[in-house]
Amino acid sequence: MDAIRILGGVPLTGEIVIGGAKNAALPLMAATLLTDQPLTLINMPELVDISTMSNLLRQHGARIDQSALAPGAGEAGATGRSMTLTSERITSVTAPYDLVRRMRASVLVLGPLLARMHEAKVSLPGGCAIGTRPVDLHLKALEALGAKIDVKGGYIHATAPGGLKGAKVVFPKVTVGGTENLLMAAALAAGDTVLENAAREPEIGNLADCLNAMGAEISGIGSGTLKIRGVKTLHGARVAVIPDRIETGTYAIAGAITRGRVTLKGTSFDLLDSVFSAMRQAGASVEQVEDGVVVSAEDGLNGIDVMTEPFPGFPTDMQAQWMALMATANGASMITETIFENRFMHVPELTRFGADVNVHGASAIIRGRKQLSGAPVMATDLRASSSLILAGLAAEGETLVNRIYHLDRGYERLEEKLGACGARIERIVGG
Ligand code: UD1
Repeated sequence: MDAIRILGGVPLTGEIVIGGAKNAALPLMAATLLTDQPLTLINMPELVDISTMSNLLRQHGARIDQSALAPGAGEAGATGRSMTLTSERITSVTAPYDLVRRMRASVLVLGPLLARMHEAKVSLPGGCAIGTRPVDLHLKALEALGAKIDVKGGYIHATAPGGLKGAKVVFPKVTVGGTENLLMAAALAAGDTVLENAAREPEIGNLADCLNAMGAEISGIGSGTLKIRGVKTLHGARVAVIPDRIETGTYAIAGAITRGRVTLKGTSFDLLDSVFSAMRQAGASVEQVEDGVVVSAEDGLNGIDVMTEPFPGFPTDMQAQWMALMATANGASMITETIFENRFMHVPELTRFGADVNVHGASAIIRGRKQLSGAPVMATDLRASSSLILAGLAAEGETLVNRIYHLDRGYERLEEKLGACGARIERIVGG
């Protein structure tokens, strides 16, 4: 299994180009199942999760063509590859266990398959390292649109013989994946659907804009109430994936935790206002410049408290990285996790660097240390892995992060991007 070795303590300086957002790209890819015409996505990141979704969609009948996009090809923010997905014919409505268990976002095929084929059989995603993560809210909402749902043998079997019918859905809790599944389902349902307490994450806006470009009629984008007027068919479109705000935040913290100065290209302050504002409050400098954001913390940082919340609040996907930063700040700080019940798996690993962290229920108290020291550590989930990389960049001496396959699910060319800013970091293949 690959590992990453870091010799820490170097202030990072330089530029990092931010890729397309994984969490936007995955639902956009699933939207191919809604139409028999080609959907072209530009600014696609190259990640293991994208390959997993491609494999899943292929076995539903999608044809996927990928091509590299020449730099500066003219489309807003486009730096990555482009991908054209065509689902002329759906050959299977089953999403098998073997593919779904690799990635929870596979459940995003449920809404589109049900809408177009009036039937879907999707393996239950099950739990994961950060909590139980049920999909009950997706299922209840689809039932409100007239689906009949049976959960048997580890599979969700959803049918809607006469097609889905628009309805009012009030989500009792904000769910990103649930909102995405329902947007796709309601786009082809008969009549009007209203989604109340919908997620407002920028990735939802990206999906809603894409569906509208495909002929859907969605309004209220960016708000907690989405209105969808169902249409009979959708057509092809060409859409850009928004920049990855979690990659943006992770590299912003890489600059700050090493007390360096990094320019993040192809991203924007607005995508991550909560994190950038917290960084400013802690004493970092964060400036929006043309086509990017410049982050520096040459004068050190003070501890401040944050609480994870749905967008526009502080993202749970930045919580582990923020903890690494606070472990090096002056004074104490508190992090409260309100989205997932078991998302402090990184704490025992961070303490191996000498970090002083105490967990009390859903909160962690961190007492900043002047200097962390390098250590061998083990990655537990995607964002926890990046917090260990960040701690390693700040720590004195050598850090070895083991089990880094999680990182490859969500960060493209991580060693290369950090190395270009002066980090002493290398991948040890099969380490
Ligand atoms: C998405 C993101 C993930 C991020 C999370 C929260 C993708 C591919 N993944 O995950 O990176 O951490 O949003 O910002 O975009 N819940 C239920 N029942 C449901 C659905 C959710 O109880 O049917 C709970 C979850 O267990 C969790 C909370 O609601 O406690 C939020 O989950 P949700 O927003 O659905 O997360 P995902 O879409 O899975």
